[in-house]
Amino acid sequence: MDPSGAVIVVTGGASGIGRALAERFAADGAAGVVVCDVDEAGAQAVAAEIGERALGLACDVTDQAQVAASIDRAESAFGPVDLYCANAGVGAGTDEHTPDELWELSLQVNTMAHVYAARELVPRWLERGSGYFLTTASAAGLLTQIGSAPYAVSKHAAVAFAEWLSVTYGERGVRVSCLCPMAVDTPLLHAGENSGDPMGATATAVVKAAGQVLTPEECAEIVVAGLREEHFLILPHPEVLEFYRRKGSDYDRWLAGMRRLQTMVGGAG
Ligand SMILES: NC(=O)c1ccc[n+]([C@@H]2O[C@H](COP(=O)([O-])OP(=O)(O)OC[C@H]3O[C@@H](n4cnc5c(N)ncnc54)[C@H](O)[C@@H]3O)[C@@H](O)[C@H]2O)c1
Repeated sequence: MDPSGAVIVVTGGASGIGRALAERFAADGAAGVVVCDVDEAGAQAVAAEIGERALGLACDVTDQAQVAASIDRAESAFGPVDLYCANAGVGAGTDEHTPDELWELSLQVNTMAHVYAARELVPRWLERGSGYFLTTASAAGLLTQIGSAPYAVSKHAAVAFAEWLSVTYGERGVRVSCLCPMAVDTPLLHAGENSGDPMGATATAVVKAAGQVLTPEECAEIVVAGLREEHFLILPHPEVLEFYRRKGSDYDRWLAGMRRLQTMVGGAG
């Protein structure tokens, strides 16, 4: 997948990784970049900065009708969508006592939004014989998220859906990549420490301590390289692959190590 000449939709494009992706795709010669976000002014500002090959749209990705409308708008402005980046995400909630509303929000934004987009896109891509879906999950979707059960669960589900799409439609031209970073310096990274909840603060602290904190631009550069090579897993922090291997090769040992880390950083119970 080469962004040059492609029509690309980026959700959560008003900020952070989504914004950096939109700007990077435009710089690499995308034919059209549609910046979607629940923050309409933010989406329009990013699109305005990119220029005439960009469109900023209000889109709440938890609403199937708005997702469908944004894909239709993208197609009428620039032509069929080649690459859809399901990137919008929220970091909300801590544990099993987190209210249902926040569990539902996490599952809606971090997982179901991808299902809503696939419902619209897969039939069009199967008809055309090609299309590319980029899921922004997280290292938390492969490993876990100390300090946030709703995030860990909804990101695991996002990885599972991306895998399923690839397995089910890969032979018919639908290509899928799954971006699983650790820390990237965006407002979401700091959501936990700004939540006023010690467990939320722990979630942010653990991610920041686990490895390098990348800039969104560094992350976008790695994404573009991963898309060019069409790898399923795009890992801006390469150590995530080693952690994932350790989890797979000895689950009990991996869990024991994570429990030690949880005890060290505190914040539970
Ligand atoms: N920053 C990190 O350390 C990190 C690490 C791993 C994964 N991620 C993932 O990267 C993605 C992008 O996050 P970010 O770090 O750039 O955070 P961010 O807060 O800078 O950007 C997230 C964007 O998503 C938008 N959004 C939230 N709910 C929405 C909705 N219902 N509809 C449309 N847009 C919505 C927000 O308005 C915001 O512009 C998320 O899926 C996040 O989980 C981030």
